[in-house]
Amino acid sequence: MVNSISEHSETAKYIVEGERRLSGEVKTQGAKNSALPILAATILTGDVCVIENCPRLSDIEAASDILRYLGCKVEMDGNVMTVDSRELTGCSIPDNLMREMRSSIVFLGAIAARCKQASLSLPGGCELGPRPIDLHLTALRKMGVEISEEYGFLNCKVKGRIHGSNINLSIPSVGATENIMIAGALADGITVINNAAMEPEIVDLANFLSSCGADIRGAGESRIIIEGRERLHGASHRVMPDRIVAATYMAAAAVTQGDITLINADPKSLGAVIPEFIEAGCKIEYNDDTIRIIADGRLRAFKNVRTMPYPGFPTDALAPLMALATVAKGNSMFVETIFENRYRHVGELRRLGANIKVEGKIAVVEGVERLTGAAVRCTDLRGGAALVVAALAAKGKSEIYEISHIERGYEDFDKVLSSLGGRVIRG
Ligand code: UD1
Repeated sequence: MVNSISEHSETAKYIVEGERRLSGEVKTQGAKNSALPILAATILTGDVCVIENCPRLSDIEAASDILRYLGCKVEMDGNVMTVDSRELTGCSIPDNLMREMRSSIVFLGAIAARCKQASLSLPGGCELGPRPIDLHLTALRKMGVEISEEYGFLNCKVKGRIHGSNINLSIPSVGATENIMIAGALADGITVINNAAMEPEIVDLANFLSSCGADIRGAGESRIIIEGRERLHGASHRVMPDRIVAATYMAAAAVTQGDITLINADPKSLGAVIPEFIEAGCKIEYNDDTIRIIADGRLRAFKNVRTMPYPGFPTDALAPLMALATVAKGNSMFVETIFENRYRHVGELRRLGANIKVEGKIAVVEGVERLTGAAVRCTDLRGGAALVVAALAAKGKSEIYEISHIERGYEDFDKVLSSLGGRVIRG
């Protein structure tokens, strides 16, 4: 079957020739989930911020489109993004920009704190199931943001300044914790977040805000205390390495009996992931910022991978590890506790020959000796990456469609895998 070749990732595909061993070194990209809230937070400074190690991704482009729409000057030079937010010209984000990126709600706290008003189209549903924003809104309301929902828009007004508050999150939501930290950094008084998310990306955001002059204590713990400042200033910041991308390359190495070394990585942030690879029979060597993974022989099944908020096993790494389980010896069990719709890619993995049963939150994977190449379709970002991992293990050629999902989060995925000896062509 011949398909039209296009530069655009909506219509582009990857052609993967499987059963090629990956080996060599790969530089870990900067974390998307860290860069996005940091870019939103640059608005608070009304100054120039330089964000290094910023990954080149469609989600990051979407964030820069929003910043430009608000009046910021944004430049990207390699992996360095400079955001000049001295002159903002707007405080609203239209529907088309909100829909480009699902996590754009993280701009709400930043715009409201800087402009005292904000108007954002409501973020749509998500491929992972409904993604409510009630925790974001309840917290910001407690901090003095008046929010009304009309005609699909969130209209926000702040009388005077946002004020500090005591926020108890019922779920340690990553996005809500970020929105509160960002708004709290410019608030009048002290904000305390109880049951805060503890993800490493929260710590990275706190480090950025602190270098802009914010006073934040406890990031990375379940109680974060923010003493608001009247103003912040610009700063330079280096985005942390992407732990989910690292886990994905590790899975790709493991399924191809490979031997790869991730440089500029952060093994500490993979505390719940590395033991799973060891359980599967991989050898892992790491120091402060490199991880080497060596796989030799058939992998063993995982006993029970249960996703949990950090420091538990990350929901975003479930799909890449499931791809690995499809060819491991024995039965692996996965339990997804964070999102409702994490198994949409399972049907596509089955097309490659995987044997997977899903019931509600639980998926049981019975490893098969061999997958076989097929035409498959990405259903979401991590599920799409999992299809590529599985295709790397499969006998023969696979065509992977709708790779725009993958390109939201993986920088030059095809080129990186090819540089390691895989055959992945973007067509
Ligand atoms: C972030 C990550 C995403 C990751 C997720 C969990 C970014 C851009 N995205 O998403 O990759 O999978 O953390 O680690 O950083 N919830 C509510 N009400 C709210 C907010 C969340 O009920 O107001 C629920 C969600 O539906 C979900 C759970 O809380 O079931 C966790 O969501 P959350 O931690 O907020 O995820 P995101 O910040 O959207």
